[in-house]
Formats: sequence, C-alpha cells, structure tokens
Amino acid sequence: MGQIKACLFDLDGVIVDTAKYHYIAWRELANELGFEFTEEDNERLKGVSRMTSLNILLEIGGVTLSDEEKNRLAEKKNENYRTFILKMQPDEILDGAKEFLLELQQKNIRIALGWASKNAMTILDRLELTECFEAIIDGTKVTEAKPDPEVFLKGAEALGVRPEECLVFEDAEAGVEAALAGNMKCVGIGSPNNLGKAHLVIDGLHQMTYEKLIELNN
Ligand code: G6P
Ligand code: MG
Repeated sequence: MGQIKACLFDLDGVIVDTAKYHYIAWRELANELGFEFTEEDNERLKGVSRMTSLNILLEIGGVTLSDEEKNRLAEKKNENYRTFILKMQPDEILDGAKEFLLELQQKNIRIALGWASKNAMTILDRLELTECFEAIIDGTKVTEAKPDPEVFLKGAEALGVRPEECLVFEDAEAGVEAALAGNMKCVGIGSPNNLGKAHLVIDGLHQMTYEKLIELNN
C-alpha cells in the first residue's frame, strides 16, 4: 500500500447533513400523492440516486406512474429541495469538518469530493467550502452509484494520485464498499455495526486528526 497523499470525502453525513432536506421534500411529494413517508423510510434513500429514490418512494405508496410523470415529479422534488439547500449556512457544517480540511491543507494532503449529488456545487458554495476542494467529482461526472468505486477512482485520477494513496471518508456502508473496491483506505463515520469493514471507524470528523491519518499508513 502507498502512503496516504489524498483524502476523498463523501458529503452527506460526513461534512453536512443534507438527508434532512431530502426527507422534507420527499415527504411533501408523498403527501401530495396521498400517502405517508417516514424518517425510517428515508433511511432507504441515503446514497441512492434521485430516480431510484423516487422509485422506492412510489413503491412504498403503492403508486405506479409513467416515465414522463416520474421525470416531472423528480424535477418537482428537486426544485423544492433546492429551496432548502439555497438557505444553508456555514454553521451547518458538522463539528470538526472544516478544521480537519484546513489541517489537511496545511500538511499538503490533497482533497477531493466524491459525492454523486447533482446539487453538490450549490451546497459547497453555500457552506463556503468550494475552495477547500482541489477536485470535485459530483453527480454530473459519474454514471455508477456506490458501491461502484467510480466516484472515488475519478477523484484520484483528477488529483493525479494512485488509488492506494487515497483515504476515503464515508458514512454509508455502500460508500465504504466503494472505497475498498477502489483499493483505497477508508474511515467510516458512524457505527462499527455497519461500517466495520473500514480501516477505522469514528463518530465524526471532530475525532479525526492528521496523526490518525499517519497511523493508517502502517
Ligand atoms: C447522493 C445522496 C442521495 C441523493 C443523491 C442524488 O448520493 O446521498 O441521498 O439522492 O446524491 O442527489 P441529487 O441532489 O442529485 O438529487
Ligand atoms: Mg453519506
């Protein structure tokens, strides 16, 4: 394995919580269609593409629609979701995330985003974090969803580093699998119950330091 030269970040659940806004927008859509959509249901949408999310939602409601109608509803949900993310503030950045990004910059560790949302640029701008990322691989640049490693491999390529020189930060099991499938090291953010395959599991970036990164080199 190579020495870690770059860190690749998932965004939702690692740097900020966007799942809560997705939830509000999907729930409103479900209610308009005449059924309930719970927070537990919303767990099934984490890390899943927009259209797959809609398909899961419609399955929960037992609703069948044409592709045309589905496209219209996905677009409608996104417009509603965007009204929330356009109001996001830098104080929504999760504890310790900005500090860790700045520490990495100081130590000359390269930084990329590996997150398949098409709204990633808007969110990074709102959080005033765009400048922290040397490469941004978002939903406009990938075709495969995690656990496929595409989003991270493209991140490594954009930075000009080898996959084995990358450390991925992920809160979803599929994301940890994507990192490992890409031959990268991975820090899981959350519980060892579902992220146990990661090289290290922590509660949040407030627990991460450059020293811990160095220990992962061994
Ligand atoms: C990421 C998120 C998902 C979201 C997907 C598409 O994978 O984790 O929850 O559905 O991006 O996001 P978008 O903003 O393009 O609808
Ligand atoms: Mg995530």
